[in-house]
Amino acid sequence: MKEKLQNIIKAAQNELSGASASDALEQLRVKYLGKKGELTAILRSMGAVPAEERPALGQLANEVREKIENIISEKKEQLKSKELENRLGRESIDITLPARRQPLGHLHPLTQVEYDMREIFIDMGFEVVEGPEVELTYNNFDALNAPKDHPSRDMTDTFYFNPDVLLRTQTSPVQVRAMLEKKPPLRIISPGRVYRNDEVDATHSPMFHQMEGLVVDKNVTMGDLKGVLAEFAVKMFGADTKTRFRPHNFPFTEPSAEVDISCFVCKGEGCRLCKGEGWIELLGAGLVHPNVLRGCGIDPDIYSGFAFGMGIERVAMCKYRIDDMRLLFENDIRFLSQF
Ligand code: DAH
Repeated sequence: MKEKLQNIIKAAQNELSGASASDALEQLRVKYLGKKGELTAILRSMGAVPAEERPALGQLANEVREKIENIISEKKEQLKSKELENRLGRESIDITLPARRQPLGHLHPLTQVEYDMREIFIDMGFEVVEGPEVELTYNNFDALNAPKDHPSRDMTDTFYFNPDVLLRTQTSPVQVRAMLEKKPPLRIISPGRVYRNDEVDATHSPMFHQMEGLVVDKNVTMGDLKGVLAEFAVKMFGADTKTRFRPHNFPFTEPSAEVDISCFVCKGEGCRLCKGEGWIELLGAGLVHPNVLRGCGIDPDIYSGFAFGMGIERVAMCKYRIDDMRLLFENDIRFLSQF
């Protein structure tokens, strides 16, 4: 019996060392260790062995089993890594194929126009200052010379959080903030969102964007305002763009004007874009009202200033001849990808 066991281990060592594939190894495992395997057969016949020899033989049988198991698992590992190596050698990945191109997005046309506008004014020495969209009623109206009973309040005012706080209806309150925070000379622009009590249509939206401008210094005149806006119009809409000032009224400027640019499509002849006028209305402007300066702690006898405010959607619509403002907010990629 002992001999048999020793023979088994020899034979197993022999055969296992020659196994060259996982399935051959598995067959050998069954042959030696399986239910009908050689070792099992010997263990089964243990009954015939004299009782005193059994413990020693049993121990030997167990050792043989362990040895065979060890050889098998060692061999298994070897075969596995060899098979992996072979597979890696056979397979290859073609890394020369070009990657699939990701379509690149770009800035929204409104943002592009806003950046263009910023650049034009920065080139003229303006500084960009931003103000909050949730604003004090005082800054939005009172400090801008529009007291409680002023009709301009009704025309625009809208979302109040409480009587003292609202969504700003214009970027003009940033003028107040700037004058309260800094001393003249001041030269700022302030782009941002504003909110109005307006129904959505082709030219209105309850949320839109404005850019405010403010200059305060000694001896600032209407001539300075005209020069700055004429320069802006030329840079934004082309070299032969003319500007026209029409008298108007804003509570925070005196005198006040609405400013038109000559139609850059028909050059003033009259066409569909300018509705036959030859001119396109662009913005509001004027010389800062002494009451506004005074309210912000600036002496109107020493300093003067001009201010202007324009809708960024309006500039974008003119520049790109967009006839419906809703297109700018609908985020239809077929529209946006044209810019
Ligand atoms: N805030 C005005 C509006 O929303 C636009 C405006 C007009 C701003 C004249 C100004 C200005 O600074 O001087 O209609």
